[in-house]
Amino acid sequence: MNRLITIDGLDGSGKATQTSMLFDELQRRGVKSRLVSFPDYASPSSAPVKMYLEGAFGKKPGDVNAYAASSFFAVDRYASYVRRWRSDYKNGTLIIADRYTTSNMIYQLAKLPKGEWDGFISWLCDFEYKKLGLPEPGLTLYLDVDPGISQGLLNKRYNGDNNKKDIHESDVAYLCACRESASYAAQRLGWQSIDCVSSGKMRDAAAIHAEIIKIILGECK
Ligand SMILES: Nc1ncnc2c1ncn2[C@@H]1O[C@H](COP(=O)(O)OP(=O)(O)OP(=O)(O)O)[C@@H](O)[C@H]1O
Ligand SMILES: [Mg+2]
Repeated sequence: MNRLITIDGLDGSGKATQTSMLFDELQRRGVKSRLVSFPDYASPSSAPVKMYLEGAFGKKPGDVNAYAASSFFAVDRYASYVRRWRSDYKNGTLIIADRYTTSNMIYQLAKLPKGEWDGFISWLCDFEYKKLGLPEPGLTLYLDVDPGISQGLLNKRYNGDNNKKDIHESDVAYLCACRESASYAAQRLGWQSIDCVSSGKMRDAAAIHAEIIKIILGECK
């Protein structure tokens, strides 16, 4: 099995929660693993991403085209890979990523007409995985959550202060469009989609975690 697993999804879908639970479980099982997270806000390489999400290039996500915005996130990923985890990855450590190139698909596809989606996906895979030389995930777990529900979780986290949201988080119509593009990318690229909602509520984090472990064990067979 490939040594890079990405957990992706819309804002507030539980990525940090699930990557951390997965990492803890792998540690318990004695699997040499490492957690990485994007954007890498602690690094100066995330500066263009921060500017974009704070609205420095325009207050709406669509003010920055899909290709330009993708390049900001890709540069940050390149810096993280080369400086922080390339040697671990090459030495056989299993890398668990909270967001990855897959996030560019989710968030940037939605800015383009559907007729251009396949062309964008090809361009992005070529740019990040071939030209920049970033490793391609062997498994992508997509946490599927209706933005109406994840917004509730984010509101709790920000204590109802909408000013704390970035330009993606504060645009529910955009997030709904992203969910549609994510569903397309998931099908097209063979992501494992996990339905994180049941009867209009988030499922227990432990139940989602158990499903993730089952998928990973299935991949290892
Ligand atoms: N299954 C769950 N049920 C209820 N609450 C959850 C669940 N998973 C995560 N949460 C809570 O929802 C909020 C968002 O979760 P988390 O930070 O893991 O998501 P995220 O996808 O990493 O968010 P972001 O996109 O903002 O980075 C947190 O407050 C977290 O504790
Ligand atoms: Mg997070």
